[in-house]
Amino acid sequence: MKMRVNGVTRSVAVDWQNETLLSVLREFLNWPGSRYSCGIGQCGACTVHIEGQPVASCVTPVSAAQNKDVLTIEGLASADGELHPLQQAWIEESVPQCGYCQSGQIMSATSLLKQNPKPSDADIDAAMSGNICRCGTYQRIRTAIHEAAAKLA
Ligand code: FES
Repeated sequence: MKMRVNGVTRSVAVDWQNETLLSVLREFLNWPGSRYSCGIGQCGACTVHIEGQPVASCVTPVSAAQNKDVLTIEGLASADGELHPLQQAWIEESVPQCGYCQSGQIMSATSLLKQNPKPSDADIDAAMSGNICRCGTYQRIRTAIHEAAAKLA
């Protein structure tokens, strides 16, 4: 099957009926930025976009991405390497603690700012409620999203 990952069309020979998108991204295509955590689509660590929509890639069959555009954390920066404003804000606010959940957090935040360029705290909490952080970085995530929203405005 074929899919376009971070702007590059890739062909993969996999059991596309049974493999998840996450396992194909990490193990077959060498894009390891999306994390395996709960494995049941409940924590958000594996969040990637298909055609601009966030999905839990640990429970999404790879067949759902066939001939589609997939965006992972590795594809968020511009082609010349400039970080996305959310990535910049994440660094400026020192958001990550252990870091395990953070690629999924940023992918969900990207989706939020596309739909709602100036979210309130309540909007952020609602939109990010599917992304769990065991280190409790929620306050810094909120601050960084506001900071990136201001930069993008
Ligand atoms: Fe450790 Fe979120 S930074 S789980």
